[in-house]
Amino acid sequence: MVVFMGSVVAWLALFLGYMFTVKGHAFNYTEALSKSLIFLEAQRSGKLPPNHRVPWRGDSGLDDGKEANEDLVGGYYDAGDNVKYGLPMAFTVTTLAWSAIAYKSELQSAGELEHVQDAIRWGTDYFLKAASRHDRLYVQVGDPEKDHRCWVRPESMKGPRPVLEINDNTPGSEIAGETSAAMAASSMVFRRFDAPYARQLLNKAKMLFEFAKEHTHTFDGECPFYCSFSGFHDELSWAAAWLYTATHSGTYLKYIVEETVPAIVDEFNWDLKFAGVQVLLSKSFFEGTHELHTFKEHADSYICAALPESPYHKIPMTPGGLIHLRDGANLQYATGASFLFTVYGDLLKKFNQKIECGGRRFESTHLLAFAKQQMDYILGQNPLGRSYMVGFGKDPPQQAHHRGASVPLSEANSDVDCGMSFTRWFNKNAPNPNELTGAILGGPDKKDKFSDLRWTSVYTEPCTYVNSLAVGPLARLTRPLKKL
Ligand SMILES: *[C@@H]1O[C@H](CO)[C@@H](O)[C@H](O)[C@H]1NC(C)=O
Repeated sequence: MVVFMGSVVAWLALFLGYMFTVKGHAFNYTEALSKSLIFLEAQRSGKLPPNHRVPWRGDSGLDDGKEANEDLVGGYYDAGDNVKYGLPMAFTVTTLAWSAIAYKSELQSAGELEHVQDAIRWGTDYFLKAASRHDRLYVQVGDPEKDHRCWVRPESMKGPRPVLEINDNTPGSEIAGETSAAMAASSMVFRRFDAPYARQLLNKAKMLFEFAKEHTHTFDGECPFYCSFSGFHDELSWAAAWLYTATHSGTYLKYIVEETVPAIVDEFNWDLKFAGVQVLLSKSFFEGTHELHTFKEHADSYICAALPESPYHKIPMTPGGLIHLRDGANLQYATGASFLFTVYGDLLKKFNQKIECGGRRFESTHLLAFAKQQMDYILGQNPLGRSYMVGFGKDPPQQAHHRGASVPLSEANSDVDCGMSFTRWFNKNAPNPNELTGAILGGPDKKDKFSDLRWTSVYTEPCTYVNSLAVGPLARLTRPLKKL
């Protein structure tokens, strides 16, 4: 009898476990959230603080800015290389700040609010240095061409670190606009914790916005790695939308209503922010700013284009159900959609709204379920049954395309030239010696296939903004399932 009961209990436990892991796809979202933020620490440049959590990283780029007689120490490396690019760095910070604003209580309950704030401040401290002079903004440190011919960890970089800037003669509305958005959004995060710092950020945000719209021009200095394909109109609207959200000033509302180009888009990423503008401004519309109704309509159109059950759905998906727009950091499109669906879903719920796509009605729960499904795919609920986050879940990737993670510490100081560095550390079909914990990699191809090789960078390279966009949805998912 005891044996019988025991086996019933065992079977029951197995069955429930199956239901929970396979049907409920219950991942440990707190762990995924926590690890996402650890990855951002691995991307830090500059002098690392004592509480730094990635044991194999050290100080780097301590002379950054010297070429221009400036202090540009700090900030983030964007991906697997050692260059500091202004545009994606600012977008990373803007989206982190948005997550910290929208999901503050979830982050707090998960014990991660401080880590998010630290991650934001690591960026904004750097932007304050980059924007310390009124007539310019430093937008890049490092030479991408040379950097890409050398496979060394940032701690061992040798050679010049050229600096790029935008100014009155070489303007760049995308980067100035995005940096303005990052500063404005971050000012809201720090308002209650560090008011003087928040004011400093907001002032810079205002100045950068003026600069961005006075000289409207595309800066192509970050090409071919971060060329703006979508132009600067989205960054100008995005900056104005964040400034309006942070200040409620009529000046920015006027700009938004009169100058913003209406746009229907179906993706959200470091280059294209219209969908973010629409979702962000929908909140003000729901709160009573009627002038913003077109933004709410366009946010609905974005959802209708991305939601698989919608008759207007047009985003390419893999057979396994993942958004797949293009190889090369493709998971940014999944985390980007997941983020906006989460935020917009919660807004619809809070303001008791539904949306319609071609006569079909969708409720907040549809949006939140889609956001969850994209995150679950990344964490392991996919045809290959593997995780795309390093150090998380089942069968996670071993060969992230990442310099720091792939050079063993024991060889860190060996005298290896750039040519040799590829033979020694890059072209080696073996797991990285250092775990790039929490990095969400480029992800699978359009048929759900994945190649876990360091040199297939379209699948294995991580990017800061893939992760920053995952923070909001993961924080939201730490709430108990039934509260979805
Ligand atoms: C989930 O992860 C968190 C953080 O890593 C950990 O503290 C917690 O014990 C985990 N929960 C479960 C149910 O394993």
